[in-house]
Amino acid sequence: MFGKTGTDGMTIEEIRRITAEVLTEAEAAVDTDALEAVRIKYLGRKGLLPRIMDGLKTLAPAARPEAGKLANELKNGLTARLDARKQALQQVAPTPGSGLDWSLPGRWRGLGSRHPVSLVIARAADIFRSLGFTVADGPDVETEYYNFDALNTPADHPARDVQDTFYFATGQLLRTQTSPVQIRVMERQKPPVRIIAPGRCYRRDTTDATHSANFHQIEGLYVDRNVSMADLKGDLTHFARQMMGPGVRVRFRPHFFPFTEPSVEYDFSCHVCGGKGCRVCKDSGWIEISGAGMVNPKVFRAVGYDPDEVTGYAFGMGVERIAMILYGIPDIRMLYDNDARFLAQF
Ligand code: PHE
Repeated sequence: MFGKTGTDGMTIEEIRRITAEVLTEAEAAVDTDALEAVRIKYLGRKGLLPRIMDGLKTLAPAARPEAGKLANELKNGLTARLDARKQALQQVAPTPGSGLDWSLPGRWRGLGSRHPVSLVIARAADIFRSLGFTVADGPDVETEYYNFDALNTPADHPARDVQDTFYFATGQLLRTQTSPVQIRVMERQKPPVRIIAPGRCYRRDTTDATHSANFHQIEGLYVDRNVSMADLKGDLTHFARQMMGPGVRVRFRPHFFPFTEPSVEYDFSCHVCGGKGCRVCKDSGWIEISGAGMVNPKVFRAVGYDPDEVTGYAFGMGVERIAMILYGIPDIRMLYDNDARFLAQF
C-alpha cells in the first residue's frame, strides 16, 4: 500500500490527520467568512494542499501516481465538504448563535387610514360647524317614545312595524333614524338650537348594493325665531357644494315625514356619471341623500317648545350614500367588508 511515503516530508498518517483537522475546522466555522479562512488555509494558492502537490515532484517516480491520487482525493474531498458547509451556513441566519439576522430590512406594516364613513362625517361636521352648528349625540338603543311617539309617529304607523325595526324583549329598540336626538337635545336645552347628530341607525332591511341593515345618518336641527324653508334650502345647497364641489346640482322633491311639515327629499346630481345616468344612480342621474322639512308643531309641543314662538328645519342624511358618490363606490357592502386593500385608498 501507500505505506509511509509522504509528500513534502509528510507521512500518509499526517495527511489523514490534516484531513480530519480541516473537516473539524470547517464544521466549526460559524459563518461564511470563517469558512473562507479555512478554505484559504488549506486549498488557497499558498495553502497546505498546493504544498503537498509541489512535494509530489520530489518523490520517487514509482511512488508518484499513488501519492498523486491520494492528494487529489484529499483536494476533492475537502472542496466538497467546504461547499456543503457553505451551503448549510447560507441557509441559517448569519448572526452567530442568535438565530436572528439583524441585517434583514424591517417589515413595513403600513399606516392605517380613516374609514370613508368617518371621513364623510368629519367633513360634514366641519361644514356645519362653519354655519354655527355643534355636534350632538344620542344612544343607539332607544325607546319607542324617542324614536317614534315624540316624533309624531303614532303606534299604528308602518315605520313601527317589526318588519322595519329591531326590537328588544324589553320593548326598547335599535334606533331606525337619528331623529330621536332632536328630541333629546330639545328636551334639555331652550331655543335657539343648531345641532347635527351623526350616528348609526338600524333597520330590518335586506342587504343589497344600496341597502344595509346598519347604516349612518347625520341628523340636523335648526330652531330659532323665523327659521324658514329658505334657510333649509340655502343651507343644504351650501352643504352640497362644500361637500361635492361647486358643480353639484341639488333638487328638493315634496315628500312626507310625520315629524316635518312640509317635508322634502333632497337629492344630489350623481357625482359618478355627472347626471347622465349610471349604475350607482340607477340611471336616474340623481341620488337621494336626505329627508328634510320644517319641524312639525306637534314635535315642538312634545318637548315643551312653543310653536307660535319658534320654527325650525330638520334633516337626516344618509352618510353611506354620500360616501358612495363622493368616492365612486359602487356597492355599499364594500364599506363593511373591511378589506384593507379597499380601505387603504382613502
Ligand atoms: N329620519 C328621516 C329618515 O330616516 C329623515 C328625516 C330627518 C326627515 C329629519 C325629515 C327630518 O328617513
